[in-house]
Amino acid sequence: MELKELVGLKAAEYIKDGMTVGLGTGSTAYYFVKEIGRRVKEEGLNITGVTTSVQTKELATELGIPLKSVDDVPYIDITIDGADEISEDFQGVKGGGGALLFEKIVADHSKRIIWIVDESKMVKHLGAFPLPVEVITYGSICLFNRFEAKGYNPTFRKNADGSLYLTDAKNFIIDLHIGEITDPKALAEELIHYTGVVEHGLFLDCVDTVLVGTADGVKVLE
Ligand code: 5RP
Repeated sequence: MELKELVGLKAAEYIKDGMTVGLGTGSTAYYFVKEIGRRVKEEGLNITGVTTSVQTKELATELGIPLKSVDDVPYIDITIDGADEISEDFQGVKGGGGALLFEKIVADHSKRIIWIVDESKMVKHLGAFPLPVEVITYGSICLFNRFEAKGYNPTFRKNADGSLYLTDAKNFIIDLHIGEITDPKALAEELIHYTGVVEHGLFLDCVDTVLVGTADGVKVLE
């Protein structure tokens, strides 16, 4: 079994009847959502899902998972999501799949957050993976130029056909190729203050548990 599937199935064990569950986005979260769909259908699992992207909403709907908007629940009991990089001190980069904004909103309303990754995502320091920054379309070239002047090596995210990628909220993503991020908190603070930046992919001090898929099985880090 693929490591992503292994952790996706393991994460589903944390979900109990009556919970409101944040459903993450990406190829690892996919296996988790599929398993929740199976349990809803075959075991009568009674949960309410809150999705983090249009992609996950379509999958969850197809699987028959009851859904509510994040605005219609008082809180989310637990959110299971993937990540692109997790440092030794449990800080994360997310947004490789473009869903960082909705993922962060759902994370902010969650009592418990579990990230599910294969071992390739565990790093000493963040920064090898490009850091996504979601920006509104108006003035995005001005922002791009400012990032370039800072030496952040920005690139606009594009679709396979070369057109500019649009997020679910109809914004652009500028990926920053910074290299090792020595002070993620300072960088997060800087990025969020550029006018036109909607959100960035640094998810700091928010995860409670990481399930890591390894060749020897799932490691639980807390
Ligand atoms: C989407 C994300 C994903 O969780 C992240 O990119 C990991 O994806 P995958 O499990 O496919 O490697 O943040 O915005």
